[in-house]
Amino acid sequence: MALPKRRLKTQEERKIYEKIFDNLTIQDLFKLKAKRIYESYIRLINEGKESKVLLVSSDEGLRVIKIYKVEASNFKRMWYYLEGDERFRRIGKGKRDVVYAWCKKEYHNLEIAYNLGLNVPKPIYFIRNLVVMEFIGDAEGKEAPQLRRVRLENPEEFFKNLMNQIKKLVREGKLVHADLSEFNVLVKDNKPYIVDFAQATLLSHPRAKEFFERDINNITHYFKKYYDLDIDSDMIKKEIGRGIFYV
Ligand SMILES: Nc1ncnc2c1ncn2[C@@H]1O[C@H](COP(=O)(O)OP(=O)(O)OP(=O)(O)O)[C@@H](O)[C@H]1O
Ligand SMILES: [Mg+2]
Repeated sequence: MALPKRRLKTQEERKIYEKIFDNLTIQDLFKLKAKRIYESYIRLINEGKESKVLLVSSDEGLRVIKIYKVEASNFKRMWYYLEGDERFRRIGKGKRDVVYAWCKKEYHNLEIAYNLGLNVPKPIYFIRNLVVMEFIGDAEGKEAPQLRRVRLENPEEFFKNLMNQIKKLVREGKLVHADLSEFNVLVKDNKPYIVDFAQATLLSHPRAKEFFERDINNITHYFKKYYDLDIDSDMIKKEIGRGIFYV
């Protein structure tokens, strides 16, 4: 993948942005640029129902800007995760308040995971509905593929590594990812990198145990189905969640 050989001129960049973003987002993107959080837009990596993920360059290497689509966001779902989170009890209930809190939550959750030394994108900055983070991929700008797109060479080792990271996240970070799946685990150098932390919740969330069990079930189910691994998901849940979710 060729990276831009020169910096995009502001006007060129604005033209590109006008095709993909609303005015408020364009304003925020230029604010980030003025702060030198990034230098130049490169391309769109992913467009989902609720977000757009952009690849950008910066003085310190490639970065990603994840932009939540305020209008298309599922506020009810966001609120459902936010209201049980003691860090976000005081937020307003307007659409924008909820999406901004969601973004801030993703940033702070990434910070917890990154500080534990887990393989997650380093969080760089957040503003309103935008989160800036490290790019997980190669130096040419090719993103690390999602787990579901890859045939692993050593699935046992990969699975163990992933479970060790989840164990650390839960036991030391006091966080449950709450959307762990083959879509949110990327593969780089045969190792798992976890993304998409907005819905991750503290252990004190009233539904943390339910989210934790669903995470482990999703991943064990995937490795059983596609790699025929002999995994006892209940044992894994007990091992990771002992003293937290189980006696
Ligand atoms: N830091 C990153 N480095 C490389 N690729 C990334 C990064 N963050 C996200 N991606 C890519 O973009 C995809 C979507 O990102 P993410 O899972 O955070 O958003 P999402 O809210 O799930 O989007 P969707 O609306 O599609 O569900 C990821 O599965 C991954 O392929
Ligand atoms: Mg995702």
